[in-house]
Amino acid sequence: MFLENLRDEIDATLARDPAARSRLEVVLAYPGFHAVLWHRMAHGAWARGWHLAGRLLSNIGRFLTGIEIHPGAKIGRRLFIDHGLGIVIGETAEIGDDVTLYHDVTLGGVAPSVDSAAQVGVKRHPTLENGVIIGSGAQILGPVTVGEGARVGANAVVTKDVPAGVTVVGNPARMIMPRDKRATREFMAYGTPTGELADPFQRAIEDLRGHVAALNARVAELEAELAARRRAEETEDQGSAVSTGNP
Ligand SMILES: CC(C)(COP(=O)(O)OP(=O)(O)OC[C@H]1O[C@@H](n2cnc3c(N)ncnc32)[C@H](O)[C@@H]1OP(=O)(O)O)[C@@H](O)C(=O)NCCC(=O)NCCS
Repeated sequence: MFLENLRDEIDATLARDPAARSRLEVVLAYPGFHAVLWHRMAHGAWARGWHLAGRLLSNIGRFLTGIEIHPGAKIGRRLFIDHGLGIVIGETAEIGDDVTLYHDVTLGGVAPSVDSAAQVGVKRHPTLENGVIIGSGAQILGPVTVGEGARVGANAVVTKDVPAGVTVVGNPARMIMPRDKRATREFMAYGTPTGELADPFQRAIEDLRGHVAALNARVAELEAELAARRRAEETEDQGSAVSTGNP
């Protein structure tokens, strides 16, 4: 099981990094892969209540990779950390499957409490659902949820929930465009689509054109129905006028 997960993680790196050339290269030269390995060990110790051992292992991982992952953080399968330097992942952060993080990302708390004892065990850090991509330098702060397949742009600051499948950029982060549903299933290196769907505004305009065409068709249908009803009412009125003898 452990070896299978390991192979999945190596393959995830190969699939998502255009610069990766072989499994051996990933194993030997990818600090993101090493950081996840150290975290698996640290988290194992933490989960058994060996908190000091967990912190120690996590600190060794940080020393070797420049990526700081608290041993309490929960990380799903096939996490891909590209470059990685400067990443900080807090104690109560939760990361789903197939998530991608670039360097300098923080999954942190938003309001450090004066009374830190009161914060023990309280959810203070973000949750990233499956397939999320977080651009370099982005700060995701507080117990917010980034929905499945969402993309957070480089250097964005997120302090509110991000709906599934959308892209947010800037500080404070704002949505730039709901993504095509296909995109939630297909990984895009650097979070950027290619080909004819590359322009989000073109996609938005195509969607709108579709809606306008559907609305036009419906209006034409309703107009035809209305005209038919009017004709029927007129015929009825004429019929009743003839039978009563009124003009
Ligand atoms: C957010 C992101 C995924 C959007 O990609 P996209 O869907 O192709 O979007 P576009 O490039 O078409 O940009 C759409 C608009 O958002 C703006 N935008 C894109 N990324 C932005 C960012 N990180 N911060 C602020 N604005 C951004 C663009 O300037 C553009 O604005 P405009 O229409 O006013 O010109 C991508 O820009 C990004 O930041 N990816 C992360 C890359 C990364 O971390 N690389 C590190 C590799 S080592």
